[in-house]
Amino acid sequence: CLYLWIGGMKILVTGAAGFIGSHTVLELVESGYDVFCIDNFVNAVADDQGRPVSLLRVAEITGKQIPFEKCDVCDINQLDEIFKKHKFDGLIHLAALKAVGESVAKPYDYYSNNLVASLNLIKMCQKYGVKNFIFSSSATVYGPPKELPITENSPTGQGITNPYGQTKYMMEQILIDVGKAEPDWNIVLLRYFNPVGAHKSGKIGEDPKGVPNNLMPFVSQVAIGKLPVLTIYGDKFDTPDGTGVRDYIHIVDLAKGHVKALDRIKAKGHIGTEIYNLGTGTGYSVKEMVAAMEKASGRKISTKIGVPRPGDVATVYCDPALAKEKLNWQAEFGLDDMCCDLWRWQTQNPNGFLEA
Ligand code: WQD
Repeated sequence: CLYLWIGGMKILVTGAAGFIGSHTVLELVESGYDVFCIDNFVNAVADDQGRPVSLLRVAEITGKQIPFEKCDVCDINQLDEIFKKHKFDGLIHLAALKAVGESVAKPYDYYSNNLVASLNLIKMCQKYGVKNFIFSSSATVYGPPKELPITENSPTGQGITNPYGQTKYMMEQILIDVGKAEPDWNIVLLRYFNPVGAHKSGKIGEDPKGVPNNLMPFVSQVAIGKLPVLTIYGDKFDTPDGTGVRDYIHIVDLAKGHVKALDRIKAKGHIGTEIYNLGTGTGYSVKEMVAAMEKASGRKISTKIGVPRPGDVATVYCDPALAKEKLNWQAEFGLDDMCCDLWRWQTQNPNGFLEA
């Protein structure tokens, strides 16, 4: 079926108040899409009127109102009311629990939340005739890479060592099967590598609750003095300097990948189910990331060597050629941009979205 979208498409964004959500909403709005945002605040900060601070900042940056409703995607009755009220042309599903370590400790919470939320959205799309579904997947579905660089044809589902990664893999399989059964749907699975950095305004950024799990928010908090030292999880990996290598991608590049996926659906009318890596194709080691952050911040970042985390692999980076070819998308920001933008966010918001 050829869709004729006149004017802006109206896109539901779940998990909209989070790190990836807020940056994606900003790029959608700047590209002329109408958005409706939902979030349950499990990983986001509300102001004293219950409004998501990150999306208030997006409104400040863009000068546009950002429609929002607090909603847990696991609550199908509230979802139904939202779908009934709005005529969505598509959705971008970002809402998920995403802490790898926590998922090992709380597997039921991760399977129930991440799977039920996604299944609810599929049901709503079927009920209300929404045929465009963009899903936030993760490089974690590849497990320990069998080959490098990782392409979209690299094997998935083998050796995934945590429930979080399993939920992403399972949802990919469910959406691929739904795509086969719903031939006029357009489904895009975006496999994120390691998103870092912040919007250049310094008004939005990654604001982890408690001690950061991921490398760069932790490094940034050491640089500003909120944390005393970075533990490098292993320096005996088979990499140039012995520390883990990952494909870090600027959050704004990642956000723009979502816009490009919608642009492709809009331009082609029907694409069926497609899968894309969103990464730069370049890997950097932990020590290289620390050095880049020291350069960006002008601060010394103290480190110590610890034991590797269970399941951590030496090297992960992707081949982003397919997204370039089909989405006309590629990462534009480099390591210095990632670190300078992260540092601006960190220094302008030492307490994240909480008021100082
Ligand atoms: C990066 C590198 C660590 C912290 C995970 C998820 C993935 C995605 C991104 C959600 C590794 C090292 C880290 C620290 C360290 N999340 N490190 N000290 O593990 O590549 O990916 O986050 O979608 O799904 O699997 O990212 O930032 O945790 O680690 O030495 O305090 O930094 O060993 O080499 P990872 P990370």
